[in-house]
Amino acid sequence: NIRQALFASVFCHVFCVHTQALTMSRANMQFHSLTLDGVKSSLPTHQQPSKEAVELDFLKNVTAWPSTPPLPLNFSWNDTSDPRHSTFTVLPKRAGGQWHVGDELGVLIKMYNFHGKPKKYGGDFLLARLHSPSLLAGVAGKVVDHLNGSYSALFPLLWEGNVQVQVILVHSSEAVTVLQQLNRMQPHRIYFQSLFRSGSLTETTTCNVYINATQQQLCNYTDLHTGEQWFCYKPKKLSCDARVTHATGGFRKNIKPQEEMLFQSGINMKVSIPPSTHPNISVHPREGKTCPSLYQTRGIGDIVRTEPSGYYYHGAWRPLDGTKVHQFNSSTAVSQCLRGKGLHLFGDSTIRQWFEYFLASFPDLKKFDLHSSKQGGPLLALDYPNNILVTYRCHGPPIRFANIPVTQLRYVANELDHIDGGPNTVVVIGVWSHFSTFPVDFYIRRLQNIRKAVVRLLSRAPRTLVVIRTANPKALTVYETLTNSDWYSIQGDKLLRAVFKGLNVHLVDAWDMVLAHQLPHNLHPQLPIIRVLHVPSTNRPNQGKSLKQARIEELGCDVEELLHFRTEYLLRCSRTKAGLEIQHKALR
Ligand SMILES: *[C@@H]1O[C@H](CO)[C@@H](O)[C@H](O)[C@H]1NC(C)=O
Ligand SMILES: *[C@@H]1O[C@H](CO)[C@@H](O)[C@H](O)[C@H]1NC(C)=O
Ligand SMILES: *[C@@H]1O[C@H](CO)[C@@H](O)[C@H](O)[C@H]1NC(C)=O
Ligand SMILES: *[C@@H]1O[C@H](CO)[C@@H](O)[C@H](O)[C@H]1NC(C)=O
Ligand SMILES: *[C@@H]1O[C@H](CO)[C@@H](O)[C@H](O)[C@H]1NC(C)=O
Ligand SMILES: *[C@@H]1O[C@H](CO)[C@@H](O)[C@H](O)[C@H]1NC(C)=O
Ligand SMILES: *[C@@H]1O[C@H](CO)[C@@H](O)[C@H](O)[C@H]1NC(C)=O
Ligand SMILES: *[C@@H]1O[C@H](CO)[C@@H](O)[C@H](O)[C@H]1NC(C)=O
Repeated sequence: NIRQALFASVFCHVFCVHTQALTMSRANMQFHSLTLDGVKSSLPTHQQPSKEAVELDFLKNVTAWPSTPPLPLNFSWNDTSDPRHSTFTVLPKRAGGQWHVGDELGVLIKMYNFHGKPKKYGGDFLLARLHSPSLLAGVAGKVVDHLNGSYSALFPLLWEGNVQVQVILVHSSEAVTVLQQLNRMQPHRIYFQSLFRSGSLTETTTCNVYINATQQQLCNYTDLHTGEQWFCYKPKKLSCDARVTHATGGFRKNIKPQEEMLFQSGINMKVSIPPSTHPNISVHPREGKTCPSLYQTRGIGDIVRTEPSGYYYHGAWRPLDGTKVHQFNSSTAVSQCLRGKGLHLFGDSTIRQWFEYFLASFPDLKKFDLHSSKQGGPLLALDYPNNILVTYRCHGPPIRFANIPVTQLRYVANELDHIDGGPNTVVVIGVWSHFSTFPVDFYIRRLQNIRKAVVRLLSRAPRTLVVIRTANPKALTVYETLTNSDWYSIQGDKLLRAVFKGLNVHLVDAWDMVLAHQLPHNLHPQLPIIRVLHVPSTNRPNQGKSLKQARIEELGCDVEELLHFRTEYLLRCSRTKAGLEIQHKALR
């Protein structure tokens, strides 16, 4: 089995080098990017498969998950992973002695089933966090699957004081098997609708990325520029040109009762795993000379291990990628920084949330009423005194919003091709949560199209600031899980990072920011987190730095820092009335 082999080979490699196996997160991805370069250069040029085909292959490897035994129809629920029987143990320091800032803390997690028997295979989806509630400090851990029912979680120790470990079982490996199957067997469990109208005659038909019907039965709305596919059943009386709106249709829940038992909140979904011993550790000041860059990327063999992108301390996000954090203490300072700028926000509701936030936090920024829907947009806001423009536009199908006029149904890639760009332009892209129900190929193609447009934008206007918001963990119910589980999100998140790797774009690591924070996971992170959701990390430090420097000189301040600060501000006002209002607005 290809997945197994891949997993095993990476496993051995990492394990031999560092006695820690395949990470479920970014180290994995970076390792494969090395492989991709090898593949490309070793191919004979005359029969080279298309770049996209090779990349597709590589990207699918990025999302490889340990294969788990198939789930027979009569599988016993009691044999599946039970977080309450499972435990984790904080491992003693390898060199002995006290823990100090700068050390790496290791935790061994052992999974058991409901009978209290140890699990023998991997594939469980675990998340880990190290935190100090009294210090409002937290950092995301990295989970390593040993493929035998045990896992390691690794954390950098970044602050002094009492720290504790939290390990969460998001889904059992058996649940992951079901989620995988669903995307293979029922990619259309979320379906869409279009309204067709001509005069007084209206018809509604079902639409999707792919419809198994003859050409005569279909309207083909494939986008000629990007090649993105979209189909609707042809209306009986009206022509395909009479399509006026796009909307989410609904969700067909088609899962066996015993499978549904794998998705029980508080029982086997998003449940903390108890520690076997006391999980508190006392961290002492750093030993020896300070080394502030220790937790930036560092090489282990030929694998670059990516450390968390940042951590919380006293409730404030501290990036670990060298981004300076500037405190903007007044809205005037903020408006000053954005003076003369155009911010273009593209994506799903997690990006619309930023629009709402900007609107609520810049006093001179006023919404210009385009008579569009609050949910689907497009939205426009203007700050005349400071000449600031903020726009929001949702991404194209499969957007799960209500009634978007097809005239406003546009692909992000095509929109980017209509932006001049330049030092006064900031583009923010967040496209992830509406792709979870489809096989990954579909999302990969979408990201490739957006990337091509970003490359075109940056080559005609290199000083454009392009910011990409990553996915984030969220609250899970059965419905949310089957349509948008964190397991789908983490797959998409790995793809997103891989696709934009090496480009001069800035990632806002929503994943780490939500995971490290003490607030519950939420699709639309609560205000304290949105404020932080702007920690850019430059993929290519050298080029990024000079461009960034140029930008700072031009602006007199750094828009990245500003965006960073703005998101952080939201963190602190989470419990204020205004904050809650914004959040309600942002919820669709
Ligand atoms: C993907 O993984 C398979 C199996 O390990 C391997 O044969 C293939 O070369 C990989 N493809 C890329 C592009 O890395
Ligand atoms: C499921 O059915 C197979 C074949 O009938 C049987 O061998 C197996 O023990 C059953 N498993 C459970 C958990 O009942
Ligand atoms: C699990 O096992 C217990 C006894 O160990 C039994 O009472 C319970 O019904 C079983 N649950 C399921 C869903 O099979
Ligand atoms: C699982 O694998 C890890 C890493 O190879 C090893 O340290 C551990 O002892 C194994 N656990 C069991 C129960 O086999
Ligand atoms: C498409 O529909 C035909 C006829 O209904 C069916 O035989 C075929 O298996 C379907 N193909 C897919 C990929 O679902
Ligand atoms: C849909 O239209 C595109 C673009 O014209 C074309 O390439 C594709 O083959 C069509 N697909 C079907 C199923 O008709
Ligand atoms: C563990 O840490 C928590 C929070 O920092 C603290 O309240 C508690 O007293 C600690 N317990 C021990 C035994 O140190
Ligand atoms: C903002 O306030 C903080 C704390 O009050 C202060 O340390 C910082 O220097 C101020 N920043 C600016 C730009 O005024």
